[in-house]
Amino acid sequence: MPIKGIINLPGDKSISHRALMLASLTDGECVIHNLSTGEDVETTRNCLSQCGILSSNDGETVRISGGSFMNPKTPLNCGNSGTSVRLLTGLLAGQRISAEFTGDSSLSKRPMNRIIDPLTQMGVHFKSNDGCLPFSMSSNNLNSITYSPTIASAQVKSAILLGGLGIEGETVVHETIKTRDHTELMLTEIGANLTVGEKISIRKLDKPLQKFELTVPGDPSSGAFFGAAAAMIPNSDITIKNILANPTRIGFFSILEKMGAGLEYNNMHKECGEWVGDIHIYCQPLNGIDITKEMVPSIIDELPIIAVLASQADSPTTVCGAEELRVKESDRINAVCLNLTNMGCEVIERRDGFIINPEKSLHHTNIKTFRDHRIAMAFSVAGLITSKRNILDDENCINTSFPEFHEILESLLL
Ligand code: S3P
Repeated sequence: MPIKGIINLPGDKSISHRALMLASLTDGECVIHNLSTGEDVETTRNCLSQCGILSSNDGETVRISGGSFMNPKTPLNCGNSGTSVRLLTGLLAGQRISAEFTGDSSLSKRPMNRIIDPLTQMGVHFKSNDGCLPFSMSSNNLNSITYSPTIASAQVKSAILLGGLGIEGETVVHETIKTRDHTELMLTEIGANLTVGEKISIRKLDKPLQKFELTVPGDPSSGAFFGAAAAMIPNSDITIKNILANPTRIGFFSILEKMGAGLEYNNMHKECGEWVGDIHIYCQPLNGIDITKEMVPSIIDELPIIAVLASQADSPTTVCGAEELRVKESDRINAVCLNLTNMGCEVIERRDGFIINPEKSLHHTNIKTFRDHRIAMAFSVAGLITSKRNILDDENCINTSFPEFHEILESLLL
């Protein structure tokens, strides 16, 4: 059954986390519209309030004021959210806060040394569970650092920059592969002392950042699920309005175009430093694609749905250099290969990716989500091309990022 319609999406998750965190360092009340409604962003809001940064949310608008941080009295439970724990650690370090972080069983398995190492060089003291959660941090005498992350990660880059905001001297990050740059764009908009070129450098300001009002653009990582469905289900045609079109985030839509889907960008304009516009997507025959390491950061969260899309192409797709997928909310290489194979597609699993030999007539099955929201949504979409829908072993995990997913999907199927 084709999907058709015009939709708006809840705000981008990455920008929502950053908007809350940066608001805490401003000189007044910040007003945020269309904040992500997912549990991860609510986690960040709760953790900030435990540190003395209070906010209100009436369901439409979040109001949050800058203020003084205090040491939280109880551990900051980051639930399933890697962005919360990694960015807050940097932010709190710069504010000289001591805190303990915990998370759910998935987050407790994910690597934290990627932020512990640079922040330790800055002078933060950590006691961790062998580089994983739970960990405690305390920060007194901090120094600026120059750091070249060995993995392409916006979370690592942002943790260092947020720490650097509170440290004397120049804090520098060298990225070899560019990752999402929302932290840099937002910091520039609100008056931080930041330069972005071959390296990114930040200096402490002797006054607070400027308060702001922001409407968070629609989340392209959520939009990808509908974009994929429109591209692979014959006669589908959708428009996603007001979606974030930052070049570091629209890798998925570039891949749709390269695979042969119908795609147009309209009404492109900048809002608060970020590109925003409408994307029109319609079904056309798809070819496979070779995805290389350099392309991975701009599609890191979309690779599960790209795998589903690739199963409906006319030629094979290869994904290389994507080993980071193994340390996401689940081992997404394994989760994708297992579930697509169970649906009848021939998939070869590799250490750093996979090869998909397309199979147009997939069959529905029981999906193992590993409680990973993006695996759940990718295989819900895969169930649109089978005779009956897939059955997920856990639907609730979708609330991590996108509680409105099913409602919006059903509205497109009418
Ligand atoms: C994010 C960065 C990415 C992404 C995550 C959100 C961010 O993680 O997968 O969903 O908001 O900075 P990595 O930094 O681990 O690549």
